[in-house]
Amino acid sequence: SNPFQPYRTDYHFQPAKNWMNVASCDLLFFMILAWTNGWTKICRSQWLKNFSGPMFYKGIYHLFYQYNPEGATAGSGNLSWGHSTSTDLINWTPHEEAINPSQPYDINGCWSGSATILPGGKPAILYTGRDPNNKQIQNLALPKNLSDPFLIEWVKSTENPVMEPPEQIDPGSFRDPTTARLGPDDTWRVIIGSQFNNTGLAILYRSKDFVNWTKAEQPLHSEEETEMWECPDFFPVSNNSRKGVDTSMIGLNIRYVLKASISKTQHDCYMIGTYNVTADKFIPDQGSMDGVSALRYDYGQFYASKTFFDSAKNRRILWGWIIELSSEADNVKKGWAGLQAVPRSLWLDKSGKQLMQWPIAEVEKLRENPVNLPSKLLGEGSLLEVSNIKAAQADVEISFRITEFEKAEVMDPSWTDPESLCIQKGASVKGALGPFGLLVLASKNLKEYTAVFFRIFKNQNKYAVLMCSDQRSSSLDNDHKKTTYGAFLDVDPVHDKLSLRSLIDHSIVESFGGGGKACMTARVYPTMATDDEAHLYAFNYGTEKINITNLSAWSMKKARIN
Ligand code: FRU
Repeated sequence: SNPFQPYRTDYHFQPAKNWMNVASCDLLFFMILAWTNGWTKICRSQWLKNFSGPMFYKGIYHLFYQYNPEGATAGSGNLSWGHSTSTDLINWTPHEEAINPSQPYDINGCWSGSATILPGGKPAILYTGRDPNNKQIQNLALPKNLSDPFLIEWVKSTENPVMEPPEQIDPGSFRDPTTARLGPDDTWRVIIGSQFNNTGLAILYRSKDFVNWTKAEQPLHSEEETEMWECPDFFPVSNNSRKGVDTSMIGLNIRYVLKASISKTQHDCYMIGTYNVTADKFIPDQGSMDGVSALRYDYGQFYASKTFFDSAKNRRILWGWIIELSSEADNVKKGWAGLQAVPRSLWLDKSGKQLMQWPIAEVEKLRENPVNLPSKLLGEGSLLEVSNIKAAQADVEISFRITEFEKAEVMDPSWTDPESLCIQKGASVKGALGPFGLLVLASKNLKEYTAVFFRIFKNQNKYAVLMCSDQRSSSLDNDHKKTTYGAFLDVDPVHDKLSLRSLIDHSIVESFGGGGKACMTARVYPTMATDDEAHLYAFNYGTEKINITNLSAWSMKKARIN
């Protein structure tokens, strides 16, 4: 680690320098290219078992992201598509920019979009361009040379733009085409994020040939007062398996997810529902894209995310962009801004009411020097250091079991907003059952720490579990935003173990509660708890005893990230 760059990550993706955003919104897809000379070196057996026929395939993951080649700010109309490739989604090779502003239809920026693999294996990109008047229009780009597995060069279609803002739609609110879905009628469908009179919209377009697109009369879905929807995503999930399904899948045992990045709150919210194929409409089961009860991929810093179906491993993968919380001046000084979350597998929870997320298994290849603590009782006010670990760059899993619930505080019916509750009852506020959890990126004297913890309340004849990530003590430097996040976790602490996993990487702490029922990503900028000066603790500041049933922690190796 570089003493001048204490906040650069060692296994979370970021470009070598400069501004990055919305990486995954732009596109990440898994390419399978027919490879005639039989290159098997990187093909593991699982990769092959999904295919029939005597053919060899080469699998490469492509990540494209919003990139400012000129500096660590969002730029002034020169955003391009940065490009990196990987065979494991953890180690990345940088390439030159795939798409740069060059034409009247994208001269003020090549904004987000998505890739689709067309029949025959040919990838196509749809992206938003901004014209000289900052009108947003959708454009098509195709690979120049299909035999180049890295797809270095992209050619813009001579038919561009392929979609113009419809009448009545503000030309500044028409962007971010999704991966296209092929319907049973052999027609492609994409949605575009938009708004009309403060109603957030997923405008639907159809095409037979991927070049000529027609707007549908009705949007796929809309919701009043949610304002601009950015980077929409619409995909099927299986209702009886953790396996992912292809984006175009329609059938039994399939539910649908619509996600929108709500620009006014900077939250990625989603709803689960059905898709009426004939009407081309999404019908949510319940809920809203806004407000304290909206379902979110992540209750922390996580925006403009995007999923893709990884056909090699039959899983749906979610990528999110993690913004800096430091000042623009600091970003310019350190020469970069923006990170990617570790890719997550995503599937429908057994309840059918929410999604589950878990870091992809590949990240575990970076684990080394495991530290396992035997089960342990944490009494009132305990602090237990986890030593022999690189605490600034670690993966920690901890499980708790509670046996005595008698003293649990009673939940107040007015506590409907979990984030406010976490602000009110931070890590230093003593309770009965909790706060208990982890102090990460902590300095030895605890002048700095990020607290990720639980509290349990009695809620009528059940128990409510609150999960918090409290960054208010994360740094002695007050020059950046220190946040607090919270969510209620749908677990039953009487019968289930209560688990927490945190991926710690210098300036990012990605936490997963209840095996992926609630995720919280925090950005922090410690001044003392950096590199070798960082420590890791388990704690219980509640009056009641808590059992740690398992604690495993690993130092993480450095990944090749550009
Ligand atoms: C999301 C977003 C997208 C847009 C891109 C521009 O943060 O605003 O809507 O296409 O970023 O970089």
